[in-house]
Amino acid sequence: MIKSTNEIRQMFIDFFYSKGHTIVPSSSLVPDNDPTLLFTNAGMNQFKNIFLCREASKYLRVVTSQRCIRAGGKHNDLENVGYTERHHTFFEMLGNFSFGDYFKREAISFAWELLTHINWFNIPKNRLLVTVYELDKETYDIWTNEIGIPKNRIIMVGDQNNLPFVSDNFWQMGDTGPCGPCTEIIYDYGDIKVDCLSKDLKLNNNNYLELWNIVFLQFDRQSNGKMIPLLKPSIDTGMGLERIVSVMQHVKSNYEIDFFKNLILKIAKLTCTKDINNISLRVIADHIRCCAFLIADGVFPSNENRGYVLRRIIRRAICYGNKLGVKKVFLYLLIKPLIEVLGESAKNLSNHQAKIERILKFEEEQFDKILKRGISLLDSELLNLKENDILSGEIAFRLHDTFGFPIDLIKDICKERNFKLDITGFEKAMKLQQIRARKFSKFECSYDNKILFNIQSHFNGYDQLDLSSTIKAIYIADKPIEKITTSSNSNNEDVVIILDKTPFYAEAGGQIGDIGNLKKPNSEFIVKNTIKFGNAICHIGNLISGDFSVGDICNATVDSIHRKLISINHSATHLLHAALCKVLGNHVVQKGSLISDKYFRFDFLHYNPLKLQEIDKIEEIVNEHIFSNTNIETKIISIDNAKLQKAKMLFKEKYSNYVRIVKIGNISKELCGGTHVLNTSEIGLFCIKSEYGISSGVRRIEVNTGKNAFIQMNNNKKQLNILSSLMKTNNSNLNEKFYNLINHVNIIERELQNLRKNQVNYETDLLMDRVIEIKNTKILVSKVDNFTSLMLNNIIIKLKNKLSSSVLVLATIIEGKILLIASVTKDLTNKIQANDLIKYLAKQIGGDGGGKIDLARGSGKEIKLLEKTLLSVKPWISDKL
Ligand code: ALA
Repeated sequence: MIKSTNEIRQMFIDFFYSKGHTIVPSSSLVPDNDPTLLFTNAGMNQFKNIFLCREASKYLRVVTSQRCIRAGGKHNDLENVGYTERHHTFFEMLGNFSFGDYFKREAISFAWELLTHINWFNIPKNRLLVTVYELDKETYDIWTNEIGIPKNRIIMVGDQNNLPFVSDNFWQMGDTGPCGPCTEIIYDYGDIKVDCLSKDLKLNNNNYLELWNIVFLQFDRQSNGKMIPLLKPSIDTGMGLERIVSVMQHVKSNYEIDFFKNLILKIAKLTCTKDINNISLRVIADHIRCCAFLIADGVFPSNENRGYVLRRIIRRAICYGNKLGVKKVFLYLLIKPLIEVLGESAKNLSNHQAKIERILKFEEEQFDKILKRGISLLDSELLNLKENDILSGEIAFRLHDTFGFPIDLIKDICKERNFKLDITGFEKAMKLQQIRARKFSKFECSYDNKILFNIQSHFNGYDQLDLSSTIKAIYIADKPIEKITTSSNSNNEDVVIILDKTPFYAEAGGQIGDIGNLKKPNSEFIVKNTIKFGNAICHIGNLISGDFSVGDICNATVDSIHRKLISINHSATHLLHAALCKVLGNHVVQKGSLISDKYFRFDFLHYNPLKLQEIDKIEEIVNEHIFSNTNIETKIISIDNAKLQKAKMLFKEKYSNYVRIVKIGNISKELCGGTHVLNTSEIGLFCIKSEYGISSGVRRIEVNTGKNAFIQMNNNKKQLNILSSLMKTNNSNLNEKFYNLINHVNIIERELQNLRKNQVNYETDLLMDRVIEIKNTKILVSKVDNFTSLMLNNIIIKLKNKLSSSVLVLATIIEGKILLIASVTKDLTNKIQANDLIKYLAKQIGGDGGGKIDLARGSGKEIKLLEKTLLSVKPWISDKL
């Protein structure tokens, strides 16, 4: 009896459970606070800290079926998907793990028993081969002496190009972290020709399938390449679920196993594709599964990091849909069939079905717009080319960069229309852009890198706002100077003063720089802003009295009110962040912020505009926290400790070994270098002033706190009072009054429409009497009064329907401006064109117009010339007939 995917997964788990392993659920596809890893790419990821002995394990033996993504990051199979039988962006990895418990011998014999024993997978032994790392004699001996595999079925694999540990049989999770030699079990679909086995064979032959990788984790690889032996050698194994299922279900492609086959049939039906072997179907089947699980695990499409990979996968799926001729938004319709075919293993998806569908639909609609705009731009570029010409890489890059048009699609379109694409030029333009972007992100300010980076200033301003310090450097317009006096700087250019230590906070992490002053007897320097270059904290400002020289001792004082307002806003951003996660979900990731003394803004990942109730809820939660008088603590702790505490950290940031953690009771924990108040009550009040989208999938909230929040609420109240008095009621009845007013307006609006309709009918009848005939052509030229342009349109349509072979010209005056409309029935457009006629008339009344040959509009302002202009219509028409 052929077993289903769900049954095979369960058998794997049951087998290791019977061998004393604890069953641990799959972790999320988003690694928990591990900035070195883009996505979970192996079963061992969730145990990384246990392997590195940074964390104790509750168990010695564990079994899992882990959701994995291999797209983006170190292990990236994206481009292969669809073109091989085996590659996926998303797959499940079955794995058994030993944390310092059993090692090579047991790991190998467990694997062999599960694969070959009659009670388990029962795969014929002569269908299996193994690979062994060339230097791993011990493993070779276990396979030959203990398991009894014939020597000619063992492939020894060494290092590539003699580079140590660079080998297919030396596994590592990423550029750093746990790693070690491995042994792989390979399934042979055909007859084994043992004499021709070589180490390349398995890579280059479709008859062989890498089934199970057993890794002997022995080292922790450092970023400098050093291998530190692990305290407890451990076992990490991984077997692709889809692969073992293909073996057990006797098919040669992962895409032919039960759920993929069914999914592909459903996609074929939905996309009206007859050929079920079409590669596009496979790509879509793979990608939809990947996208669904990613979104369920909280990833949102965006232009950065994980969100960017997700966006690429979604777009790739859409493009393959286009190849099948799909014209409508379709991906979101695949979620239901996907959940059906996956059965019990889709629980994680069904819990988030509505969210996944919503996000996919939105993303696809956005991309559709991009595609349409991009295709019309590409079309106009291609129109300028002759057949077999080359589309320049610059233009392709512009389409890609400005409109997000995928380069694969540009390539395909060029190919279809017999044009070549300068891909080298494209890559060059792309590189240049990256260099530009890097440069820009480094120097955002007009002071450039001439300011000495090697000056080191210490920031002492978390607890102190006033201290005595020595001047280390002075700059004017990027030039170092020894001394500044009021007369030497008479044109009052901005000056930069750098101190050895300072209480001034330099603009960072969204928080603006401090202001204040530097003083010594008879001399004062006003600090207007503080920014950091390298390790130098630059006080930017103007000298207002006396002089300052390098080496002088001065008193540095931060404007404490300004600082307090900023700190209030900074603490409030942390409360907002926590409330957003609570109300909207954990996908809310901070994308940026601006924290000033006046207000703050906070950008974050989220799809839809916030509903009023959500905004209310967020305000309520944050204000509750403010009223709860919770202490805000800051501490310097090790990065590992911060990760353990699950502190929020930005994925892109590189953190050093010690970090500053800001903790607000048990409400929020974030890594942050900014300044904060000591207790939430100091924030006073929190009031959202606006919420809007700033780019696809990124929202911005602007907030007032403290006194500004009060002013905002008070202004709202005043507005309400004004409205109430206009409506002659009080605030509590305002709602009802407005409902009534809106209803009333709707009724009047409807009546007006009816009146206008009647007026149009009436006027049409009157105008019919004024139609004349010249050379078998009916002609009407008239001015009508008090008509809107829509009414004018309707009259023209009505008249045209009543009159065959006609030329109609109507004019009306709206708000001191003449509107003209001309229509010509199709049978006459070879002689008379409405757009020409309109142009001829509009010119006479000092205006312009245009349109199509059968219907055109124009306008002008010389009202006194209108009558004469209308008289010119008939002779103009007669001439042409
Ligand atoms: N971590 C190992 C792999 O992914 C088992 O192949």
